[in-house]
Amino acid sequence: MLPLKALITGAGGQVGRALLKAAPSHVDVSAVTREQLDIRDANAVGRMVEAVHPHILINAAAYTAVDKAESEPDVAAQINALAPSYLAEAALRIPGCRVIHISTDYVFDGRSATPYKTADAPNPLNVYGRTKLEGERGVLAALGARAVVLRTAWVYAAQGRNFLLTMLRLMRERGLVRVVADQRGSPTTAASVARAIWRMVDLPQVQGVLHWTDQGVASWCEFAHAIAEDATAAGLLPHPIEVIPITTADYPTPAHRPVNSVLDTGETAATLGLTPAPWRAGLRATLRELV
Ligand SMILES: NC(=O)c1ccc[n+]([C@@H]2O[C@H](COP(=O)([O-])OP(=O)(O)OC[C@H]3O[C@@H](n4cnc5c(N)ncnc54)[C@H](OP(=O)(O)O)[C@@H]3O)[C@@H](O)[C@H]2O)c1
Repeated sequence: MLPLKALITGAGGQVGRALLKAAPSHVDVSAVTREQLDIRDANAVGRMVEAVHPHILINAAAYTAVDKAESEPDVAAQINALAPSYLAEAALRIPGCRVIHISTDYVFDGRSATPYKTADAPNPLNVYGRTKLEGERGVLAALGARAVVLRTAWVYAAQGRNFLLTMLRLMRERGLVRVVADQRGSPTTAASVARAIWRMVDLPQVQGVLHWTDQGVASWCEFAHAIAEDATAAGLLPHPIEVIPITTADYPTPAHRPVNSVLDTGETAATLGLTPAPWRAGLRATLRELV
């Protein structure tokens, strides 16, 4: 049997790198970073997809600077809303090619008291969420059953721009951090997202919107507490750390964020036959990479 061919865009990001690291041996992977393919260039996207002729296209590229998006809505829209439809149109020209597109918990407004199910109505609070929602819709409309939209949340890794690395830097510099305690979500490793995606690659019947995060719920402040505790135990912090809870109102940001970012992963876990790992285990595994 010929190997499955996969094309990954945004390969230099957290999830892109995790996908490369975990690529199964039966998949022939072509991966392009932003420097190698700007997904805003519809012609370049068309040429790349035509040249690689993949069975599966995984879009890990996105404009992820949530606050900056408020002052750069056009750039965020080009990358998150428009470019995914270029990828979908290019994939449509390759017989049978599926697209796995990654999206976000920020498509929801966070007002629900319970974890968000895939069928719950989106209502983004910020530019990033609105552009990501448009991107999801474009991919699903163009490709129908050949599209998968995987929503995830609070992604971090041992490299990249993320809450874990920001906290470790601030904790080393200051010994005291003030962290928002009234927004909750599920901290999720990029490796966990990659694991779910590679499983989807092997399951051609999987389609539509799925939710995947690591298991369990924390506030940003609880996440920071856990980082302080586990990083200290791993010898990554030189002194004891104080973590002070604050409210969202104490820490105004350009983008409004949902209070509840928790996604219900039950359906996806059953569909994929995977159990999400507890988020604290993901944190410890990521810290081990940093030791
Ligand atoms: N990070 C989170 O907490 C989080 C939460 C929920 C969902 N997600 C979703 O998960 C996916 C992966 O995110 P991530 O955490 O891996 O983000 P990331 O580390 O910021 O990676 C995104 C990658 O996309 C690249 N990129 C940006 N504009 C591009 C363009 N025009 N053409 C090609 N590549 C471009 C970036 O390159 P540069 O670095 O050079 O800009 C970066 O390498 C995204 O769809 C994101 O919306 C992330």
